[in-house]
Order: sequence, then structure tokens, then C-alpha cells
Amino acid sequence: MGKKLLFAVDDDPNQRRILSVLLETRGYEVMGFAGGEKCLERLDEYPIAVFLDLMMPGIGGMETLKAIKKNRNDLPIIMVTSVNEAETAVQALKLGAFDYIVKPYDEARLVTTLDNALQKNALLTQVRHLQGELKEQHGLKGFIGRSPVMETVFEKINKVKDNKASVLIQGESGTGKELVARAIHYNGRFAEGCFVDINCGAIPENLQESELFGHKKGAFTGAEESRTGKVEQADGGTLFLDEVGEMSPHLQTKLLRFLQEKTFQRVGENNNITVDTRVIAATNKDLKKAVTKGTFREDLYYRLAVYPIEIPPLRDRKEDIPFLCAHFLKKYEGEFAQKVKSIHPQVMEQFLSYSWPGNVRQLENTVYRAMINSVTDCIDKDSLMDTGGNPETAANETKADNAHKIERIGFDPESVPEKIIPFQEVEKNTLANAIKLTNGNIPQAAEQLGISRSTLYRLVKKYGLR
Ligand SMILES: Nc1ncnc2c1ncn2[C@@H]1O[C@H](COP(=O)(O)OP(=O)(O)OP(=O)(O)O)[C@@H](O)[C@H]1O
Ligand SMILES: [Mg+2]
Repeated sequence: MGKKLLFAVDDDPNQRRILSVLLETRGYEVMGFAGGEKCLERLDEYPIAVFLDLMMPGIGGMETLKAIKKNRNDLPIIMVTSVNEAETAVQALKLGAFDYIVKPYDEARLVTTLDNALQKNALLTQVRHLQGELKEQHGLKGFIGRSPVMETVFEKINKVKDNKASVLIQGESGTGKELVARAIHYNGRFAEGCFVDINCGAIPENLQESELFGHKKGAFTGAEESRTGKVEQADGGTLFLDEVGEMSPHLQTKLLRFLQEKTFQRVGENNNITVDTRVIAATNKDLKKAVTKGTFREDLYYRLAVYPIEIPPLRDRKEDIPFLCAHFLKKYEGEFAQKVKSIHPQVMEQFLSYSWPGNVRQLENTVYRAMINSVTDCIDKDSLMDTGGNPETAANETKADNAHKIERIGFDPESVPEKIIPFQEVEKNTLANAIKLTNGNIPQAAEQLGISRSTLYRLVKKYGLR
């Protein structure tokens, strides 16, 4: 590869020479131009930065700057000015120049400015690359669904991703609500900003407001320093309100005001802050019912549900199961020395007749655990005899047995109990068992139950299990 190329644009040949000497000794190649027009003609030589004189005959520094920005927005430009041109130099910065240096050159300043410009550019390139990767990761590629109902979901994502309408995603636990939210963000016009999520069910009521809107130092006991809230962090991006049905009445009112006026105040402050944020909310509750019951504000419901997306439970789209299984086998194949390539038809039959109360998350966990257990390249009935997801426990009889019990409750299409047990009771017992068997390790219990931690926390509270 050749040397890194810099452009020096100045009508004064002496100035061009000084720049060349200073920069060539540092290993750069410098190409000099007496005017903006010539420099613009050669942009396709791919310089890594441009030194641009402000006052030149012909189109002049300002116009050249604008033209370069139009063609190669990411190219760092350092303006070169005389002492009395400071005002114009500031204007150039507003137009996107990286910085300016004053003639005669201070060598150290010149080099630092160039280093900074190149460093910033490298970071920007990296950010763009990472954004691309995130899009790849969270985009629609890893999002599986061949059933007509899921086709409709994809269509909706594509329709809504580039506008600002608030989206309400509804669906049972584990159906892929967060996946949908991320797909909308990373594929749409807010992708340059951050995807900021807040789990309304997991934050104690008295901290919800400051978590969402931020607070001033000393606003309440424990507020030892000022902090920005999630809304502010999501400026230019997406605010994802997960489990929005769990939001306290007080915060519902605050959120409504924010959605109506697009402005908010940090706790303990009076000035209004305005942000440009797309809002996506998700819930596994029937929010309409909550509205009827009076636990969720009706006006807030309509503000959030400008564009509703309903994700059906897995049992209502069983044709997706084989494709999801293939996807998960591929997703985790790198983790195993023994390649697991397929699922035995008998197992698939079981999968297809099972009701999957934990939806896609439960299916994913089941496939993953079966891959751990599998001794051949095919998942068969034996691979479903479970170790609880942790390969190390396989050797440990009792633990494996216990974990096995959790799994049997969650997945045993063949056992038929003698009498009908009310669902709430089954649910409560299942949860109590899971908590006992994992010694109160909620993340582990949630994982094995195939529900999210926050759902488990909510249910623990509901049944008073701890
Ligand atoms: N259509 C799908 N294709 C591929 N993976 C999926 C799909 N749907 C869900 N998953 C996977 O299932 C798991 C659960 O998805 P997600 O967290 O989005 O569900 P959720 O609806 O937000 O659940 P909860 O209500 O419990 O928070 C994730 O690992 C996700 O990657
Ligand atoms: Mg979720």
C-alpha cells in the first residue's frame, strides 16, 4: 500500500511547500493544489484529509469546503487561515470543517490537529461498522417466521420502521416482542441513535420516574449526583418501554405528558427538555382489559397504540417450529464440538403437538439443552432427557434429577394427570418448585422455565412466593 495521501490547497506556493515539508517528514504523501477547482477534480484519489486555505482566488475556501462535504462528507477538512479571519473560520466549522489552524504554522499544533482529525474519522468509521453489525444482528435476518401471521408482522415492521408513530407490541412471554422492537429500530430511520430499553416491571415504583426522565443532584435522598434518564439517552433513537403494563399510575401520567408535548423535566428541575425519540412499548398483558379495569390510563393506551403489532403465540403458528429449530441449531452450532445437524422426526412430532406456553424462548432453550445432551448429530428422544441446561451438572445425579423435574413440568406432552388442576395452581406450584430447585436463583429459574426474569419477578410478587 502507498503512503497516506493528504491534500494541501493554497494559492501561495510557499505555504504549500511548508506544509509538504512538515508532513512528508512524518511519512505522508502531500499533493498540492493552487485552487479549489483543481482539488475537487482529484477527490477520487482518496486523500485521508485536506488542508484548505480560506482566502483563494476562484471558488475560494468556503465554496470548496461545501463542495467537498457534498461529495465526501466523511473526509476531514482542516481550514488554514490568517489571524484576522477567525470569524469566517468559525463559519467553516459550522459547515462541517473539522478544525482550523492559523498561519504561520505552529508545527506541534498542526500535527496534533491532523492526528485528532484522523482519529475522529477512524472512530466514526468504526461506529458505522458497528452500527452495520448491530443491524445485521438485530435486523430481520435472524428473525424467523414463515407462517402467514408472521408475514403480517414483518409487513407491519417494514411499514412502520421509517416513521415516528408510537408502536405497541403485544404478545405472550417469549413470543419475540423485544426482537420486533429491535428490528424496527435497527432497520429504520432511528438506527443512528441508541436503542434504549427500560423494563417498567423491574424498577421499584419510587425510582421509575428518575430512571425514565433523570434527576438533579439532591432531588431526593440517594440522588448523589445528577443523572440523565432513559428518555434523554434515546434522543435521536428509540425508547423501548418493556412491560409497559406494569407502569405506576404516577409514571403513566408523566409519560402521557411527554408523549403529548415531546418535552419533559428531570426530577428536581423546572426547565423543559425536548427530545426526538421514537417510542416502542411492549406488554404481555391485555392492556385494553387493564384500561377497562382502570389500572391503565385510556388516553395513554391510545397514545402508545398508534400502531399496534400483535405477535401470536407459537401454538397458533406451528408451521414456524421446524424453521425456528433449524435456526437455533445453526445459531448454537459453533458452541459444540459435535455438530448437531437435525432433529429426529419423532421429536419434531412432539414439538409440533406441544403447546409451548413459554413460546419461542422455551423452544430455543429446549433445542439448546437437547444439543448439549445429544451424543449423535441428531436430536432424538434421549436428548430431551434433560440436565437443566448446564453440562457440568450432567454428572451430578441429584441436581440433574431435580432440573429434570422442572423440565418435565414444562415439557411432557405424554403425561396425563388424573384430575384437572386449576391453571393458577399449576403455575404457582411450577414456580415454587423452580425456585426451590435452583436455590432461589431467579435468573436460572427463569431460564429453565422459559420465561424472562422480569416475568418471573412479577409472578413471584403476584403469588407472594418470597
Ligand atoms: N421469530 C423468531 N425468530 C428467531 N428467534 C426468536 C423469534 N422469536 C423469538 N425468538 C427468540 O426467543 C427469545 C425470546 O424473545 P424476546 O425476548 O424477544 O421475547 P419477549 O416477547 O420480549 O419475551 P418476554 O415477554 O418474556 O420479555 C429470544 O432469544 C429471541 O431471540
Ligand atoms: Mg421481552
